[in-house]
Amino acid sequence: MATHFTSLGAQAPAAALGKRSLATLVRLLGWWRAPFWALALFTGAKSFVDNPIIGSRRLNRAGLHVWRLRTAHALTRYRRARLSSRVPKHLREQFDRDGFVVVRDVLPADAFRRVQRAILGTELECRAHQQGDTITRRVPMGPGMAMLCPELDRLLRTPWWRGLMAYVASACTAPLYYIQTIAGGVAEGPPDPQLQLHSDTFHPSLKAWLFLTDVEEDGRPLTYVAGSHRLSPERIAWEQRTSIEVVESGDRLSQRGSLRIRPDELGALGLPEPTRFCVPANTLVIADTSGFHARAGSHRQTIRVELWAYCRRNPFLPWTSAGIFSLQRFAERRAELLLVLLDWLDRSGLRKQHWTRAGRRRPIDL
Ligand SMILES: [Fe+2]
Repeated sequence: MATHFTSLGAQAPAAALGKRSLATLVRLLGWWRAPFWALALFTGAKSFVDNPIIGSRRLNRAGLHVWRLRTAHALTRYRRARLSSRVPKHLREQFDRDGFVVVRDVLPADAFRRVQRAILGTELECRAHQQGDTITRRVPMGPGMAMLCPELDRLLRTPWWRGLMAYVASACTAPLYYIQTIAGGVAEGPPDPQLQLHSDTFHPSLKAWLFLTDVEEDGRPLTYVAGSHRLSPERIAWEQRTSIEVVESGDRLSQRGSLRIRPDELGALGLPEPTRFCVPANTLVIADTSGFHARAGSHRQTIRVELWAYCRRNPFLPWTSAGIFSLQRFAERRAELLLVLLDWLDRSGLRKQHWTRAGRRRPIDL
């Protein structure tokens, strides 16, 4: 019996030792990725939990996150200065001050009505993604959409539109364009995470909305904290603090690099209450989404349709040219090609595709 007890007693520490060794081995094997983690510091990589260098408390206490932030913003200022002549002075000043620009009556009224009719009333093959109680649907803009509404296609090629997009994106890369429907309060789920004020990423980047439907006060309008795109000393201190704490105490999306901020923290950063974009259809809002923004809540079901634009590239590139992305035949198919690529990555098990097929729907349908 004694031997039996001795044998059992020896097995438990041996098993624990085995587990520990296995964990150590897995950890060591994981470090083969270290060179890639280090290289990612010079890209737009932002997740504090997927890259132990970006998420390192010690390195962020020493200023790693703030260095990436300052460098990316300095390079953005440099690139924007080179693109400034493409934007009318009043729009440039509005953007530099607030971090967003609002342009009303973008298309002549009759042209806008034709675009609105063509897009809202046509069944289009779309993708959908649910966040909380809100379902977002997207249709990538490609040659087919350009044929459906030539006026919209022509607008995207006008010098003033391209100049404004380039200035905010700080690069000549054409944004990706989608027809986007946001159907709010239509699904069962936890609160929509887009309702929390956040910065999309640590470096300046572009998002734009050309609203195809009116956005009412209780229609879940976009909100943006004016001036929050600038790196004030208070903002830098907040970023430094957050980068140190986020891995242990942040929410999931902050940990992945879209830092959330509570409304009651804005005052200490010298920032105002968010501006709400309750605007009529045919209004363009273009913003630097490194500034704090969110979707406002509502107690009712809402639907909003817009042409949505997105441009985010490596913030550490000093040049503004788009390279291969400027080739017209490639540029106009980018959003569709990206979808094909993401589907392939999903099938290969390399990356999850969150945008599921939602069939043919009219963008205006709930
Ligand atoms: Fe966002």
